[in-house]
Amino acid sequence: MGSVKLSMKGWNTARVRLAVLLVIVLQTQDPKVGSPQETTSPRPDEFAKQEKIYSSRGAAVPGGYVTNRGLSDYKDLLTSDFCDRLSSLGSSDRWLDIGAGEGQAMLDYYALDDGTTPTPKCVRSWARARAVAMSIEDRQTDKWRQQAAIFGADRLRYVSGKRLRYYSREDLGTFQVITDVFGGFSYTEDLSVFLGKVLSLLETSGTFYTMVQSVHLENGKDKPQSWYLTELVDTAGRDVNVCSWLKQTTCVKVTCESKSDWDQPTELINIQKICSDVSVPSTKLVKFEAGNPPGRKFQLER
Ligand SMILES: C[S@@+](CC[C@H](N)C(=O)[O-])C[C@H]1O[C@@H](n2cnc3c(N)ncnc32)[C@H](O)[C@@H]1O
Repeated sequence: MGSVKLSMKGWNTARVRLAVLLVIVLQTQDPKVGSPQETTSPRPDEFAKQEKIYSSRGAAVPGGYVTNRGLSDYKDLLTSDFCDRLSSLGSSDRWLDIGAGEGQAMLDYYALDDGTTPTPKCVRSWARARAVAMSIEDRQTDKWRQQAAIFGADRLRYVSGKRLRYYSREDLGTFQVITDVFGGFSYTEDLSVFLGKVLSLLETSGTFYTMVQSVHLENGKDKPQSWYLTELVDTAGRDVNVCSWLKQTTCVKVTCESKSDWDQPTELINIQKICSDVSVPSTKLVKFEAGNPPGRKFQLER
């Protein structure tokens, strides 16, 4: 009996050792290659923290949460054809800025050209497209209200109080140009639903200009010490760069300008809608860490 007990103990010890070894082997595997199906799920308190960032005001606004970038910043942070494309719009065309903050880029676009400001106008004549600024939280300034009163809410409109996905085409209409600079594309918890909604609001031959910082670049030239804020993995847990995922969408032409020499690897993205039968490959959120922008990891669903 005694010897049987001894060998059972030995068997259990061997099993424990084997389990520990297995854990060590799994932990020392390339961290970029995750498990086939991510088992983690985002922590609810991180979403609550993110809401606090949106509702912050005055001194409580975190340092990196910039809400007043002007048109010259948009010109630098969007693909190189952006200013020309905006200049080509006529007065009945429409421009939507998703995640507009204070709407400074649109105020610059509507500013009267008295030759005193170095701001790029991105306009060819007196004509201006009708502009809609969208933000989750209302960050309208007195300057916005004054300009909107001069030009009329039909030309300078500000919508807030909810995320893009809760608006319909009937609410907003459709657009020739949609922009997003550190807006919904960098902040959303549901990347594929977000993109699907953007494309549903875009006219055929319209263009979505966006960017995303700290991502794996399409040109593969990320600096070796780079860290990532937005990550995408396939069903097997392998890294996928954002542009190759975007290029799986039907009815769009995607062009990416990889900025590998910037402090953080940044992709400037241009998505032209070329037909109406759009289908975006779905993504599932597997990690979320509040921030400006938040840290996110998405897994492709097929
Ligand atoms: C950091 S601010 C950027 C503001 C502006 N684009 C700029 O560069 O100054 C982020 C903006 O994105 C908005 N935002 C984030 N997620 C959004 C979503 N899903 N739908 C609409 N707006 C969103 C926020 O409400 C805020 O206006």
